[in-house]
Amino acid sequence: MSDNELIEIAKKACENSYSPYSKFRVGAALLCKDGSVFSGCNIENASFGATNCAERTAFFSAVAQGKRDFLKIAVVGTSDGRFNSVTPPCGICRQVMSEFCGKDFRVILAENDNLISLALDELFPFPFCDF
Ligand code: THU
Repeated sequence: MSDNELIEIAKKACENSYSPYSKFRVGAALLCKDGSVFSGCNIENASFGATNCAERTAFFSAVAQGKRDFLKIAVVGTSDGRFNSVTPPCGICRQVMSEFCGKDFRVILAENDNLISLALDELFPFPFCDF
């Protein structure tokens, strides 16, 4: 699946965003090595710390369905329905990615029609690891 196709799925996932507090919709689309795609959105909570980011929603959905092997994730965010600036994953989401993905896992971001593809290694070069 192309980066563009994955970005379009991430944009669609924004529609399910539950974000009454920030009013910032985030969508993610995670491509597994078997070709399946899991999308996710941010899900906020009145207790702000209980909020789940779109990327983690996608990862946890996939892992809950038995998936462990991932190729790339597309992430987009918007407060006005346009996607004119990149939404890089937060630190917690980068750590979650590093739990399941190797250095060559790619994170695809979008700024209007321009796509940016980063290796996880570039985004998060020194993850916590307990072994
Ligand atoms: N958010 C994500 O969904 N992913 C990120 O990587 C960063 C932030 C969400 C959390 C919250 O609902 C909103 O964006 C504003 O921080």
